[in-house]
Amino acid sequence: MEEVDQGGAEFTLAHLSDVHLSPLPKLDLRHWNLKRLLGWLNWQHRRRHVYSRDVLDRLVEDLRAQNPDHIAVTGDLANLGLPVEHAIALDWLGTLGTPDCVTVIPGNHDIYSGIGADIGTARWLPHMSANSAAADYAIAEALSGAHSFPFVRRFGRLAIIALNSAVPTRPMYAIGRLGPEQLRRLASILDRLGAEGMMRVVLIHHPPLPGLSKKRHDLKDADALADVLARHGAELVLHGHEHREMLAWHPTPTSRIPIVGVPSASLAIAYKDEPLARYNLYRLQPGANRPRIEMIARGLAEPNGPIVELARKWIEPNPA
Ligand SMILES: [Fe+2]
Ligand SMILES: [Fe+2]
Repeated sequence: MEEVDQGGAEFTLAHLSDVHLSPLPKLDLRHWNLKRLLGWLNWQHRRRHVYSRDVLDRLVEDLRAQNPDHIAVTGDLANLGLPVEHAIALDWLGTLGTPDCVTVIPGNHDIYSGIGADIGTARWLPHMSANSAAADYAIAEALSGAHSFPFVRRFGRLAIIALNSAVPTRPMYAIGRLGPEQLRRLASILDRLGAEGMMRVVLIHHPPLPGLSKKRHDLKDADALADVLARHGAELVLHGHEHREMLAWHPTPTSRIPIVGVPSASLAIAYKDEPLARYNLYRLQPGANRPRIEMIARGLAEPNGPIVELARKWIEPNPA
């Protein structure tokens, strides 16, 4: 995969999320607390039996065979948000591709609870910062532990705008929050990119609209984000978090934004009502008046089965 100027040509973006890397590493009890104890019990009794590294590895092998131009990972690489997990996740990101070719944002299992002075997910900064083509969109330098979001990556006529909705939360809570500063920057970035006729793809871990998640699992400023998206526009929003296949449409004055959630990329067997492991491929055709988006879902149709194409459809911001 190489970073190339697409100049309006088709661009293939792969999206996977919620990999919940296993097995859990040997735990450093320095950061132990009630939230992590409950999360650890949940992992030991349920999650470790269903989220499989082997399945994830097979999915990634299939993804790489599709030769995407870029890979987006929308969070929940870890389980208990521990520094040792962040280091393992960085190694895993390296197996996907170089930082130029792989963009990551954190999920609530990555920024989970306190880690003292450790830099945490800042280990991922090579994959989690503006590329050289978008250096002028890097509004502030990233600081250890407090990253600069949104960051922008430009690929010809396509731009990825990456948000961070993950915040440390109380036990039994998986909420997210962007905060007014990130929302303000997002509005300005969307305006600038829109004025240039760029195809804008927004990444966020939590579903971005009100009503898409249950309470204690939702984005607390979803109303404000929905307002920013409606006013300033985007051509596609991708998220994870719910471990479900989701498609919502968000109207703007001139078009409608497809908002697509992808299930977990590592679920090996039936668990609750979650679909088995999958990822989505997007064939994106930037174009100022009528960008075109084809979505192809690939993954497991049955436990222990092969990775196959599960669905293929056009999702059009501006239908003819
Ligand atoms: Fe998750
Ligand atoms: Fe999540």
